[in-house]
Amino acid sequence: MKSNTEKFGKTPHQPSLWTRADALKVHADDPTTTQPLVSADFPVLSNEVFIWDTMPLRDLDGNVTSVDGWSVIFTLTADRHPNDPQYIDENGNYDITRDWNDRHGRAKMYYWFSRTGKDWELGGRVMAEGVSPTAREWAGTPILLNEQGEVDLYYTAVTPGATIVKVRGRVVTTQHGVSMVGFEKVKPLFEADGKMYQTEAQNPFWGFRDPWPFRDPNDGKLYMLFEGNVAGERGSHTVGEAEIGDVPPGYEDVGNSRFQTACVGIAVARDEDGDDWEMLPPLLTAVGVNDQTERPHFVFQDGKYYLFTISHTFTYADGVTGPDGVYGFVADSLFGPYVPLNGSGLVLGNPSSQPFQTYSHCVMPNGLVTSFIDSVPTDESGTQIRIGGTEAPTVGIKIKGQQTFVVAEYDYGYIPPMLDVTLK
Ligand code: FRU
Repeated sequence: MKSNTEKFGKTPHQPSLWTRADALKVHADDPTTTQPLVSADFPVLSNEVFIWDTMPLRDLDGNVTSVDGWSVIFTLTADRHPNDPQYIDENGNYDITRDWNDRHGRAKMYYWFSRTGKDWELGGRVMAEGVSPTAREWAGTPILLNEQGEVDLYYTAVTPGATIVKVRGRVVTTQHGVSMVGFEKVKPLFEADGKMYQTEAQNPFWGFRDPWPFRDPNDGKLYMLFEGNVAGERGSHTVGEAEIGDVPPGYEDVGNSRFQTACVGIAVARDEDGDDWEMLPPLLTAVGVNDQTERPHFVFQDGKYYLFTISHTFTYADGVTGPDGVYGFVADSLFGPYVPLNGSGLVLGNPSSQPFQTYSHCVMPNGLVTSFIDSVPTDESGTQIRIGGTEAPTVGIKIKGQQTFVVAEYDYGYIPPMLDVTLK
């Protein structure tokens, strides 16, 4: 494999590395970085649909924004099929686990609204059937653009391929609720290039998704984070000294970890409107460590860049492991160098007794972390589970320098606004 300098050039930056040595410091069940147990008697948002990735409406600076006093969230959503013969098992029971596991293939973007920042009411689909060009509408970010209520929804159009796209519409409020109107024309923005970011042709298990646009608080330009894998044919990556880091004797064997090649990508807009983008080298790579750094996002605090991304136990490489949850890195400037928070990167992981209780954490600038419930054990052995597909209790964390601490727990799906915009 080419060195980072050969692959990414000398400008504008070199990716920071999440090393195997960093990941060896990841420990589940440290109470300061572990999500409190989610009880199996959680309420569900809806018996008609599953929801998972949750995307609060926000502005380009990252502030969660309500409109005319209404909070708004977007969610990846799929119908539940309790009566569909396809999901009835041989004993005549609804196989909710299989229905839930199949959800990614039929993911659609829905929105919800609320007066209280919780107790969400279903608004409906953002785009009518047929508007989005692919089968799956995968995660992204809704941005409130102005006081006219214009909203740019950036998301990932998946199958066939994976394209970062956006669609512009408008949020309309009344005394009784919120609607999303005019999301009718989807504009493709970019796809993986095979030079910096791995393509489907290079690896059928590639990841390229989850756009998170933002205005850099320092240079004022429009950028976008996204999830990617480092370019190159699957199996061709090397895990060398830099990727291994400073490990103790006996930890030099990297096994098959060359197959894990996650990165956090970044692109810069060439125009004010965010219609024309140029991909830049990744901000962070996890070659030899982990294969997925999903839904990357920032919190800008104390003049620093706090970069958060979600990852799984099953995507870790040979010889390293960690819980499903959100990981974080901090830098003094946008292009790094980034160092792992808490030494390891782990910020909020599931407890080992309930390893799949939550996922898809989003850290908001007020320190509140929202996620969804995946599955919670209902017996001691953990063989019986209850599927979620609904909002998890929100967790509060404190971010201090290079450390984070769990400090609070709130209600299910509590996503309070940080700003309210009165529409004109
Ligand atoms: C995270 C995620 C995203 C993707 C979506 C697909 O939970 O894997 O990366 O956009 O879910 O359902």
